[in-house]
Amino acid sequence: SRPVLISPSILSADFARLGEEVRAIDEAGCDWVHVDVMDGHYVPNITIGPMVVKALRPHTQKLMDVHLMITPVDPMLDAFAEAGSDLITVHQEAGPHLHRTLQRIRALGKKAGVSLNPSTHEDTLDYVLEDIDLVLVMSVNPGFGGQSFIDSQLRKIEAIRAKIERLGKPIHLEVDGGVDAATAPRVIAAGADVLVAGTATFRGGPAAYADNIRGLRGA
Ligand code: DX5
Ligand code: ZN
Repeated sequence: SRPVLISPSILSADFARLGEEVRAIDEAGCDWVHVDVMDGHYVPNITIGPMVVKALRPHTQKLMDVHLMITPVDPMLDAFAEAGSDLITVHQEAGPHLHRTLQRIRALGKKAGVSLNPSTHEDTLDYVLEDIDLVLVMSVNPGFGGQSFIDSQLRKIEAIRAKIERLGKPIHLEVDGGVDAATAPRVIAAGADVLVAGTATFRGGPAAYADNIRGLRGA
């Protein structure tokens, strides 16, 4: 079985102590750090921008997994790349020229990801899959942490895993929203290899992070 990577969403961290929180999840054994960027336009919430990614960059060497829920996205790609993002994920639904957006991310020297909302069909990936590093399946409607996992997305995860196997390229399959110790085994069984978790990582405060991350891995 493939290794499972944990990417805690700092959306559920204490925003007044964000640097310390990133250090704490790093020391607690996370694999990546998931940064949710929201613009109050593409999604009904506002979070943080490239200045915060840049400020957090010295606090961890782990992969900075930046999930952009913004539109238009193209004008912001350079800033997120320069801020120190390692992987930049954009929404399939956020613009008319997805392929161009992905080309730009790769031209900036970054890994490129595509996210699909719960209502979006996986076949929208067919003409970009060979040019990306990651698919992000949203298992809640984007905008807020703490929502319930949408079960229909398990079928989508299975279908995307099959596409990736057919292609035979090392593309990550990440799942975001409502992932906790109860839903994680189903998500992994369906074929995911990267789990995003906000609520389930940060609940209980820093003393609990290591156990929380182990619980998500199923170890
Ligand atoms: C939602 C974000 C998620 C969210 C996950 O728009 O993309 O990363 O923070 O939060 P939990 O794990 O609490 O569902
Ligand atoms: Zn996210």
